[in-house]
Amino acid sequence: MRIEQHPILGPLPGAREVTLRVDGRVVTAREGEPIAAALAAAGIRVHRYTAKRSEARGILCAIGQCTDCAMIVNGVANVRTCITPVADGMVVETQRGVGRRSEP
Ligand code: FES
Repeated sequence: MRIEQHPILGPLPGAREVTLRVDGRVVTAREGEPIAAALAAAGIRVHRYTAKRSEARGILCAIGQCTDCAMIVNGVANVRTCITPVADGMVVETQRGVGRRSEP
């Protein structure tokens, strides 16, 4: 299942395949699709864990409003993956709390 039309990014152009690394796992994606879409297609649902209770969070609004999809992307914390396009070679990590890197 792939998103072809995103409410913020607009139509997502066809499909040059790229790869990203998610917590060390190589994931294939379509260049330019939201990171969250690539993760969903790969069966990855947990994007971050909350600071107080360490509860799992993932895609909720999918339009950049709730921050539940925040992850560490190329070393930058709190990136909303539902509105951030994939690029070849990206390194994506599960976020814990307000931006610590996930434990291996
Ligand atoms: S799912 Fe709500 S900001 Fe990404």
